[in-house]
Amino acid sequence: MAKPAAVQHVCTECGTSSGRWLGRCPGCGEFGTMQAEAVPARGARSSSARGAAQVAPRPLLRLVDVVSEEAERISTGVPELDRVLGGGLVPASVVLVGGEPGVGKSTLLLSALGAMSRDRRALLVTGEESVAQVKLRAARLGGCDDVEILAETELDVVCDTLERERPAVCVIDSVQTLWSQEIGSAPGSVSQVREAAGRLLRVSKESGVATFLVGHVTKDGSVAGPRVLEHLVDCVLQFEGDRYHAHRILRAVKNRFGSTNEIGVFEMTGEGLVGVPDPSEVFGHTHGGEIGAAVACTLEGTRPLLLEIQSLVAPTDLAMPRRVGTGVDPKRLAMIVAVLSRHAGLPLGGADVFVNVAGGVRIDEPGADLGIALAIASAAKGVPVREGLTAFGEIGLTGRIRAATQTDRRIEECRKFGSSLVLGPDCETLRQALAAGLTNSQS
Ligand SMILES: Nc1ncnc2c1ncn2[C@@H]1O[C@H](COP(=O)(O)OP(=O)(O)O)[C@@H](O)[C@H]1O
Ligand SMILES: [Mg+2]
Repeated sequence: MAKPAAVQHVCTECGTSSGRWLGRCPGCGEFGTMQAEAVPARGARSSSARGAAQVAPRPLLRLVDVVSEEAERISTGVPELDRVLGGGLVPASVVLVGGEPGVGKSTLLLSALGAMSRDRRALLVTGEESVAQVKLRAARLGGCDDVEILAETELDVVCDTLERERPAVCVIDSVQTLWSQEIGSAPGSVSQVREAAGRLLRVSKESGVATFLVGHVTKDGSVAGPRVLEHLVDCVLQFEGDRYHAHRILRAVKNRFGSTNEIGVFEMTGEGLVGVPDPSEVFGHTHGGEIGAAVACTLEGTRPLLLEIQSLVAPTDLAMPRRVGTGVDPKRLAMIVAVLSRHAGLPLGGADVFVNVAGGVRIDEPGADLGIALAIASAAKGVPVREGLTAFGEIGLTGRIRAATQTDRRIEECRKFGSSLVLGPDCETLRQALAAGLTNSQS
């Protein structure tokens, strides 16, 4: 092994490097993320060094002359995963799957490999679990008999195997366990992860292997290691939900071949992760007459989704009352609370407001505003929302309700799941919507 020339300090969040240790990363502003790493020896066969060595003049093409082969997508055999990928796996692409430990990354990808191994070669490279452990899981899931397996953590061996065997699909579980001798630092360090991803990316493009990289995530939900990893790969899928709840959400954070709005919903069972084709059925119900609960209709990609929103409004002595949302953007929540106070006559200045979205789903879409506002108003006034009501609509800063996109599809979904009353499309202002949506038994 080459003697490391020097030590550099690299930020584990964004990959910024510096000659000396710094308490705060100058790149991303995070504290305590700079870690010492050996500088790779000069002339090492790193991905960048290799690329620079092969400089040959290349003719330029006009786009019109490019022969495009519309590559057929590979169905992963898991419909919810196909949906998130934008209709299946693109051959020779690299997909990064991130998620907390125990969320089900290995389980999901093993079942997908099992299904894909029926008509093509599928390889699992396991660096975290032994072959015997994988076998146990495979026995539980079933249908994985033809999956080939390699227990290896050395990057060179993994890349050579891929080049030689050329499986159609490969899962690397996980990218943080791979290490290259030429990089002097420990497995999982920024330079190792970056090198591993760079090399695997090139191998997968050259040998036509569609590759899933499993990546661990840090507390705040980003994939551990530098963000450069996210820039390198074609798709980044985030697996959300915690191991104490049965439901998991798979979300595309980046997708070069499809939309990033799609989500897949799974339930963890003894036989592995089972797709939930109708999440509205699971998440879109309130207990009739409950105070502080409302059903909102949001749009996740192409799919309308009914979600129960719960809220609690509690008096507080804090000078700055809390606005805490789980699954709701904090800025959006603050805005909705402010509009409720200012334009709907709801005094919330002396109260903490908590909002929770069912099933661990995260709402990114303004169409859910009205549902959130209705849940908060119900909690603040102590009156339930009208039975069988579903709300959607974007709330503007003036208290006016803007029509949400794709109204017809949302109404169709509401009807499908038995909503007797759809609130939103016909309301002009928030005040009007609250009067129509809340029962007036007590107020
Ligand atoms: N026999 C079982 N029955 C039901 N669920 C199980 C069983 N064994 C493991 N699990 C679930 O699988 C999860 C582990 O999934 P895994 O795919 O290993 O996660 P990751 O690879 O993301 O760390 C555990 O959280 C557990 O809930
Ligand atoms: Mg795992």
